Amino acid sequence: MARKHTVEESWKLWDEANAYIPMATQTHSKAPRAALRGVEPCFVTRGQGCRVWDLDGNEYIDFRNALGPISLGYRYPAVEDAIRRQLENGIIFGYATPLEVEVARHLVEIIPCAQSVRFLKTGGEAMAAAIKLARAFTGRELVLKCGYHGWLQTMTTPGMPEGAAASYRDLPWGDIRPYEEAFAREGDRIAAVTVACAYADIEQGHAFYPALRELTEKHGALLIFDEIVMGFRLSVAGAQGYFGVTPDLAVFAKGISNGMPLSCYLGRRDVMETVRQAVVSSTFGGDTLSLAAAKAAIEVYRSEDVIGHLWARGKQLHEGMRSLFNKYGVPATVRGLPPCGQLVFTTGDPARNAELMLRFEGEILKRGVMIYSVMYPNYSHTEADIDEALGKMREALLVMRDEGLFG
Ligand SMILES: Cc1ncc(COP(=O)(O)O)c(C=O)c1O
Repeated sequence: MARKHTVEESWKLWDEANAYIPMATQTHSKAPRAALRGVEPCFVTRGQGCRVWDLDGNEYIDFRNALGPISLGYRYPAVEDAIRRQLENGIIFGYATPLEVEVARHLVEIIPCAQSVRFLKTGGEAMAAAIKLARAFTGRELVLKCGYHGWLQTMTTPGMPEGAAASYRDLPWGDIRPYEEAFAREGDRIAAVTVACAYADIEQGHAFYPALRELTEKHGALLIFDEIVMGFRLSVAGAQGYFGVTPDLAVFAKGISNGMPLSCYLGRRDVMETVRQAVVSSTFGGDTLSLAAAKAAIEVYRSEDVIGHLWARGKQLHEGMRSLFNKYGVPATVRGLPPCGQLVFTTGDPARNAELMLRFEGEILKRGVMIYSVMYPNYSHTEADIDEALGKMREALLVMRDEGLFG
């Protein structure tokens, strides 16, 4: 008989954690939803391959993948061995280490825009560095920003000085016209366009990226790709590899090191060299454990068809889900590309869509599957794992259908 799903220990610790840690987590998207109290776990204690276990001991097939970085799988042996071997030699030193050169060389070889590379720890921090260099290089201040680039670039929240916020314009994904208008209005003040793909409408990138490339070149602004999610996922080289458009600078993080905290900004050598004057410097920028993990992970990417696997397992998941939705009359679909698709409910009523999504997530959590706003397959998901997840999704949908939730 299946083990009863209970998350009591998780919620007990969650309530206690709130006394010590505001929001009880360091990452807003890791906070459990109040509406899923008693169903959603708050703490995960262990991962292996494509599965994780929560504090109460429940097992899940995981499509959250630590919100993106777990590209090969939890405890992937080649990466774990590399970290362990490096640990015997030390974590960080008062001079650079050869690993920095080795990983940089790999990146220059596999990423079209990369002539030189520098390392940091988080995606948002590396985006801030790329933007700083673009401003220093062009002598301009304004940035046209598309998508989420991390908390440092989130200008609309309290605590951001007006002056800082005024040097950004938030523009939408996919439509070149607002960018053309912005350049027509204040093109000589624009240092860069920064862009992260919108998952559901990612295919618009086929027209959008070349148009952005042409526009930025025409006005002497830099084009910066946020490849933090797309890198080592959509293709090894991310969106620039998939869409065939080469930016001036790009930022990679998440999948680069299968979970160790590492980010990099890379691109045109002439722009990257401005770092000497602009100064981007971090004590932990060259830590050896993350770099050893990245080196091992990149070697797997270069020698095995990881990307093909992510596409194949993602396709299996998406097609399986769409076929369940058709069969049971569920007003939902999966949008976007297989390595990073999004489940969307399609009733036409946003509030009802949100309720259905929460309920579905709750029902699959009870059965041992976790998803995120993006569903990330990893290299350790097998065909059988996806089938098992689909079987659990089917059970969840049947419960919801029998309650008349789709009618
Ligand atoms: C597209 C994108 N850019 C930037 C970031 C920020 O990365 P980090 O949280 O490592 O600062 C994220 C984080 O989820 C992201 O999804």
